[in-house]
Amino acid sequence: VNDKTSNGHKNDAQTLYVAAPSKCYPININYGWIDHAFLKALAHERHVVVITDENVYALYAEILKGLDVYVIKPGEASKCLRVYGEIQAYLIEKNLTRTDTIVALGGGVVGDLAGYVAATYMRGIGFIQIPTSLLAMVDSSVGGKVAINHGAGKNIIGTFYQPDAVYIDTAFLNTLPEKERSCGMAEVIKYGLISDSALFEQLNHMVALDWQQQIKAIIYRCCEIKAEIVSKDEEDKGIRQILNFGHTIGHAVESYYHYSGYAHGEGVAIGMYMKTCMAYASKKISKQELETVRQVLEKFNLPRQVRNTNDLPSILKEVIHDKKAEGKCFKLIELKRIGETEMVSYTYESLLQRLGEINHKEMV
Ligand SMILES: NC(=O)c1ccc[n+]([C@@H]2O[C@H](COP(=O)([O-])OP(=O)(O)OC[C@H]3O[C@@H](n4cnc5c(N)ncnc54)[C@H](O)[C@@H]3O)[C@@H](O)[C@H]2O)c1
Ligand SMILES: [Zn+2]
Repeated sequence: VNDKTSNGHKNDAQTLYVAAPSKCYPININYGWIDHAFLKALAHERHVVVITDENVYALYAEILKGLDVYVIKPGEASKCLRVYGEIQAYLIEKNLTRTDTIVALGGGVVGDLAGYVAATYMRGIGFIQIPTSLLAMVDSSVGGKVAINHGAGKNIIGTFYQPDAVYIDTAFLNTLPEKERSCGMAEVIKYGLISDSALFEQLNHMVALDWQQQIKAIIYRCCEIKAEIVSKDEEDKGIRQILNFGHTIGHAVESYYHYSGYAHGEGVAIGMYMKTCMAYASKKISKQELETVRQVLEKFNLPRQVRNTNDLPSILKEVIHDKKAEGKCFKLIELKRIGETEMVSYTYESLLQRLGEINHKEMV
């Protein structure tokens, strides 16, 4: 049986546009359409260098035959100045010019690194995103944030550089490890919570068997939400910050366990659940809604709480510390209801009190 039909996929391509102030570009979504011929055709029009990682290369070497490919080691550590420099040297060696194009084929690590390379090589060359992880499809490939890490922190060195196009082939998800799929779903759940209660309901009613059938439409919807936000606030000065819902706590969880206890999506899931508990404690959402959020996170194998709740006070202290540094009053993104957020102002003391209102034991 042909894979393309056995999963009930219809061969209907979908396109939407990101109308960012700096550039308007398409996002094309379909199942099973990016193959060797497609990439060859891209490389026919101009000189193309594909950047990918070893995992993706091992699985998809076939479609990359005959192309210039730079393969990095998988993982966050590759988003660094050393690898950045090595890729620049490779582009110089390949005589890439300003009219040529970098293609990022991989997850968010490849996309962020390749994007920063593309943004800076000769002051900016062509850039196409072909995301292969769910997180990259719904989040990192759209919106033009590109960066590498510095010893002092994640994404310290970066810029805004929109791609010329984003090509999403959901067939890549067939090889994505289960855990990566869950982490991508954390960002999908985020879109539902912050701006689309219907999407959240769809996730609530989704059964495992339906995943393949529904994921294309879900990715489309997430890209649509992100595209709208990015077109209003490309440089992250206002509304775009709602995309960080659950991320302040999530980052604190990730960093508390030295980036080896919880993956990004897991940290975000914990952060979102804590925010949902806060919304419940302040009577913005009902017990039933809190329960639904719990079930949805559980369905996609995402944690709601850190394994050792005794660590919680120290983790939260880190969050507050972080915010305290910004000044006396600071704003956090909170749930107003499912599908809508609001900015709430806190002082150090009021946040402490607020966090004290949630029953952390009950959260588990
Ligand atoms: N630019 C942005 O707006 C933005 C937004 C969110 C996250 N990010 C960045 O994205 C990165 C995380 O992205 P990620 O979760 O995709 O991580 P990743 O790129 O490390 O990919 C996760 C893992 O999945 C593997 N993989 C990817 N596609 C695969 C496939 N089709 N089949 C099998 N294996 C596959 C990768 O090799 C890797 O091991 C972080 O560096 C984060 O900072 C950027
Ligand atoms: Zn995230």
